[in-house]
Amino acid sequence: MKSVVILGTGGTIAGTGHDPDRSWQYRAAQLSVSQLVDAVPELKGVPLEALQVAQIDSKDMSWAVWRALGQALQTQLAREDVAGVVITHGTDTLEETAYLLHCLVDGRKPVVLTAAMRPATAPDADGPANLRDAVRVVQEAARRGLGGVVAVLHGRIWAGSQVRKAHSSALDAFDGGGRPPLALLDETGAWREAITPWPLSGKAGWQALRAEPPRVEIIHSHADADGWMVQAVLAHARQHGPLKGLVLAGTGHGTLHQGLEAAVTQAVAQGVTVWRSSRVARGGVSSREGDVLAACGELTPSQARVALMLYLLGV
Ligand code: SIN
Repeated sequence: MKSVVILGTGGTIAGTGHDPDRSWQYRAAQLSVSQLVDAVPELKGVPLEALQVAQIDSKDMSWAVWRALGQALQTQLAREDVAGVVITHGTDTLEETAYLLHCLVDGRKPVVLTAAMRPATAPDADGPANLRDAVRVVQEAARRGLGGVVAVLHGRIWAGSQVRKAHSSALDAFDGGGRPPLALLDETGAWREAITPWPLSGKAGWQALRAEPPRVEIIHSHADADGWMVQAVLAHARQHGPLKGLVLAGTGHGTLHQGLEAAVTQAVAQGVTVWRSSRVARGGVSSREGDVLAACGELTPSQARVALMLYLLGV
């Protein structure tokens, strides 16, 4: 039987607190990934390897951590004796990492991200069941010959290209931006029902993570958005290094306050690549005739930022 490699990056799943009755008071990224594995009785006897790649609260996610994660994934996925990889992650930026990996992984083997909304010390800790489910999904996907990036959370399998955090505190915190999960799991972690086809992967672009990340910022449109923020980042870039891209989180279908729009025109004239997404959770943004700015489809603004960085790197 091939091994499942579990790469730990921190998050609430590895978080601990002192008072189980006040489980919202805790520190993320305290337990090692080996400790997380040891806490799941159903994983005893399963061929597993646990490797710590990072130990962070995922609000602090960075290109450097993505680079380390990419290196570890590339090494582990190339091993003949590895069925696939689980990544334990914080929930807060899981959608960015999942989308990034979706674009970079070649899709021959399964890569499953998982996380938790409660720390390991909480009475209703959801990490152990999520980790067990994630390992089972790797094993089952490998058995079915399925590869690519998915997230397994709260009994659901989500496409890595679509998953996003949609609730700040509920156990069932993720959705697919209006798309259904790929499948549901039963209470033992077995696949209960397939809902949509397994996703397909991007294209082995690991070399992108070795490059210096192009600077791409996100700016929201809102009442009184007069373009001051755009002017500010352009001025900052003149002193501290180039701004390569801007993702606009527009209103509704990606529309912009007229003041912001005028400033964006200046940014474009200065060579900044500007893409348009929406601050609305569902429905996305599609291209319309005469559009000057590329539309980001159903990507969230933070996923669109990842997409624009990869675009600027030629992936
Ligand atoms: C984090 O994202 O690392 C902290 C929050 C969480 O995992 O739920």
